[in-house]
Amino acid sequence: MTQTQPSTEPIALVTGADRGLGQALTAALLARGWRVFAGQYMPEWPQLGELAATYPLLSLVPLDVSSDESVAAAARSVAQQADRVDLIINCAGVLSPHTDGRSIREEQDYDEMHRMYRVNALGPLRVVEAFLPLVEPSALKRLCFISSEAGSINRAERTSWFGYCSSKTALNMAVRLLFNRLRPRGYTFRLYHPGWMRTYMSGQRNEAATLEPEQAAVSALGYFLQDRGYDPHLAPRNDEDRLVLRDNRGVEWPF
Ligand SMILES: NC(=O)c1ccc[n+]([C@@H]2O[C@H](COP(=O)([O-])OP(=O)(O)OC[C@H]3O[C@@H](n4cnc5c(N)ncnc54)[C@H](OP(=O)(O)O)[C@@H]3O)[C@@H](O)[C@H]2O)c1
Repeated sequence: MTQTQPSTEPIALVTGADRGLGQALTAALLARGWRVFAGQYMPEWPQLGELAATYPLLSLVPLDVSSDESVAAAARSVAQQADRVDLIINCAGVLSPHTDGRSIREEQDYDEMHRMYRVNALGPLRVVEAFLPLVEPSALKRLCFISSEAGSINRAERTSWFGYCSSKTALNMAVRLLFNRLRPRGYTFRLYHPGWMRTYMSGQRNEAATLEPEQAAVSALGYFLQDRGYDPHLAPRNDEDRLVLRDNRGVEWPF
């Protein structure tokens, strides 16, 4: 069995790290010298294995965020290898492109909507619950959530995508409740829309989108790793003491 090693490097957990934004965030953190536990959902997908061959500080952890058992097993595995986790990036997410875009005059697929809720809304909550004891000893205690502009009720203009949009709205509320409980105990939060990315949510790489995931990861990490409490440009507003949904251009979105 692997022994818990006190680590001098900062330590991150990234979910949905096989491809897309999660994979790009994992690579960017490793390049900055972080130790990364990468949630692996698609063992057949090669990129994480290739990264692991380059970076000894990368550990792959089987992780299906929709499964209680998988998330609990991942937390046990990380606890055997590390004394703490400083940063969690909840990135795993799903979309159902073939059914979710249907108008209300077409047949809805409620099983697919449930799947999006299980992954997009409840997955991050499940991960935080299971990993909280590992984050507790960290000085940083940073919890990051990849949400979406699609979850904003105030700015909603779509007329369908019931499952995806509602799952991200539900995520935003779950993060708000976590924030209310954990911010007074020193936890810091990032709730984030990463931009429109050339990733695999629709089943194949979306070449029509505007951002490479590597570009999106640079902007995201800029926000995730920055201390927002003491930014003179934001004063007197303080992003650490209020929960903000921000996008990749730094723009605040209403909930
Ligand atoms: N792409 C965009 O333009 C965009 C815009 C706004 C927000 N986002 C958000 O950004 C995040 C990353 O998405 P992405 O664009 O990088 O998509 P992606 O390329 O599909 O990456 C998401 C990864 O999560 C994995 N995953 C799916 N279900 C999972 C589960 N139950 N447990 C763990 N991992 C799971 C996916 O595997 P499979 O491929 O097998 O499903 C995939 O490897 C998501 O939360 C998404 O909602 C994306």
